[in-house]
Amino acid sequence: MSTPAVTPRKPVTLHRLREMHAQGDKITMLTAYDATFARVVDEAGVDCILVGDSLGMIVQGQSSTVPVSLDEMVYHTRCVVRGNRSAWVVGDLPFGSYQASREQALHASIALMQAGANMVKLEGGGWTADTVLFLTERGIPVCAHLGLTPQSVHALGGYRIQGRDEAGAQTMRKHATELSQAGAVMMVLELMPSAVARQVQADNPGLMTIGIGAGQGTAGQVLVLHDMLNITRGKLPRFVRNFAAEGGSVDDAVIRYVRAVKEGSFPDESLHAY
Ligand code: KIV
Repeated sequence: MSTPAVTPRKPVTLHRLREMHAQGDKITMLTAYDATFARVVDEAGVDCILVGDSLGMIVQGQSSTVPVSLDEMVYHTRCVVRGNRSAWVVGDLPFGSYQASREQALHASIALMQAGANMVKLEGGGWTADTVLFLTERGIPVCAHLGLTPQSVHALGGYRIQGRDEAGAQTMRKHATELSQAGAVMMVLELMPSAVARQVQADNPGLMTIGIGAGQGTAGQVLVLHDMLNITRGKLPRFVRNFAAEGGSVDDAVIRYVRAVKEGSFPDESLHAY
């Protein structure tokens, strides 16, 4: 595998991400679960690495993210942080680590932050606002996650598009604003109509929305690394693009992703028919 010509960059900070957002510079995010891929992603210039609980499927071979434990998230966060040099690291709070109380969420977040995460991510609507406020007041940057929230797959009845009807869209917008007002600075918007994601961003201009299957109107984009490298087996969601299709190295594919998000050619709005 060839390695990219690396120009060292300054560590990506929250301040820098906010500057990028204010300037309309798209934010790039990819998942990584180990030191080697974290280094590849960082050197390709990806702004944020998500240590996602998608590792339940990608690394552990589980059928959902539900079985992933906090100890496992801590372990993978440590691995990623060892490989990373400068990207902003977001650690996922797994199912069962924050739902019981805001104190439970604080203890779990401390474990991820002490493993080296710069920010924690939690799934859920307005019911998490109190927790978001509690964490941010204690110096922990929080990324919220709305739309398809995979930890709730059993309650949602599968991996379905969210916010499709008017009532669903209005609820999504209400929850997004509550979470933003509670202090969430970043928000993953997963699998929803592009118009809804655009509206959430317009309602909360300072919020850094990061889309996955949510069209082009978000402040940034995220994909599961193994999906965009086309090494995940099985049927992939249709919003995923195979960045390895043109050949070359893994580094080349990740560099292509960064370029496509920054110049706005990914995602392709014409293919986003939700
Ligand atoms: O766990 C994960 O990888 C995620 C992304 C799909 C956003 O939450």
